[in-house]
Amino acid sequence: MKNSISRRDWFKSTLALTAGMTITPALVNSLMAAPVSDAERAYFGLSKLNGAKVRLNSNENPYGPSEKAKKAVVQSLTMGNRYAFNEMEELKKLVAAKEGVDPSFILFGAGSGELLCQTGIAYGLEGGRVLSAYPTFPLLMNYAQMMNAAWDKVDLNEKLEFDYEKLLSAINTDTRLVFSCNPNNPTGTVVNIDTVKSFSEEASKKTLVYADEAYIEFLEPAQQKSMVSLVESVPNLIVSKTFSKIYGLAGLRVGYIVAHPDVLKKVGMYGDTISVSQTAIAAAKASLGDEDFMKMTREKNAVARKVLTDYLERKKIFYSKSVTNVLLFPAPMDGKTILSKLEERGYLIRVWDYQEKEWCRVSIGTVDEMKGFVKAFDEVTA
Ligand SMILES: Cc1ncc(COP(=O)(O)O)c(C=O)c1O
Repeated sequence: MKNSISRRDWFKSTLALTAGMTITPALVNSLMAAPVSDAERAYFGLSKLNGAKVRLNSNENPYGPSEKAKKAVVQSLTMGNRYAFNEMEELKKLVAAKEGVDPSFILFGAGSGELLCQTGIAYGLEGGRVLSAYPTFPLLMNYAQMMNAAWDKVDLNEKLEFDYEKLLSAINTDTRLVFSCNPNNPTGTVVNIDTVKSFSEEASKKTLVYADEAYIEFLEPAQQKSMVSLVESVPNLIVSKTFSKIYGLAGLRVGYIVAHPDVLKKVGMYGDTISVSQTAIAAAKASLGDEDFMKMTREKNAVARKVLTDYLERKKIFYSKSVTNVLLFPAPMDGKTILSKLEERGYLIRVWDYQEKEWCRVSIGTVDEMKGFVKAFDEVTA
């Protein structure tokens, strides 16, 4: 099967890593939330994945962590000998106040990715099916498949947006969970909040809804209307957020989900009680609600994104109308060549397979990085 990874591959690749062996396609699968194209499978088996490269392949924030976060991390080191039980509770209270829910509705993980994995395990073990639009961030569905579930996918609409009407009608009696990602990765597109809200209300009557909001803070503050407002009245809903994107803490690993305590109990069973480190908690606390840093990131990201979209317009290449730090467009030549020639010039991107075609997924770096990328991409595809 093209987009799946087996548990055997996972363990084999983990062993290969610890034994210092070469990078295999299976290892790449496990490292990168599963490659989503044949081009990546073929290419990353050969790539060294190191060196001074411009990383436009993981939707990271090139401006983070903030100065406040860095200072807090240094200060937190003196507590590095202590489990962070108290600090975790403090962060939980701050996040609960920000989200307007009781702290019992919050569960933290080492990145929201850990919680996506745990949710995939918890619901995948029940068998049945998990449902999402595709392409989207596949981690939860990959884990559900590794357990016992099948993954049903519906296409995006012609504008490369999540099609919530189609998604709702694809729910059947075997659907254990439906995954919504708004704004979506790899497209960066956002769907009107009222549409997602009524979808979540309707779908949650039939199955669990997982609303991934990893990129919500890229929207202007007045538009950041989270599904969290539904959580207390809708017991069948999980909303996830992360400090990895707008806050620029991807390498420190902290994210959380908001859901009814019974749901958190079920998901929490498959993780450690405390997987978030003192340093990550300190950085998250210092970053939470740092409007200046978020505003700076949003503004610089929009300018840098325009460098890329202006280029795509000039070349008449169709692209997803991203509001975040990633966008998707059809690969103008074969994906493996694009990956290798760009890497030779110092740029890393991703290639995804969708509808029998290859697509370039490019994260937004700084303005200078995007100018350099556009030049390199133009040479490679000339
Ligand atoms: C939609 C989405 N959700 C979740 C994640 C996981 O991020 P993290 O584990 O760093 O919180 C990502 C990472 O790229 C993502 O794109």
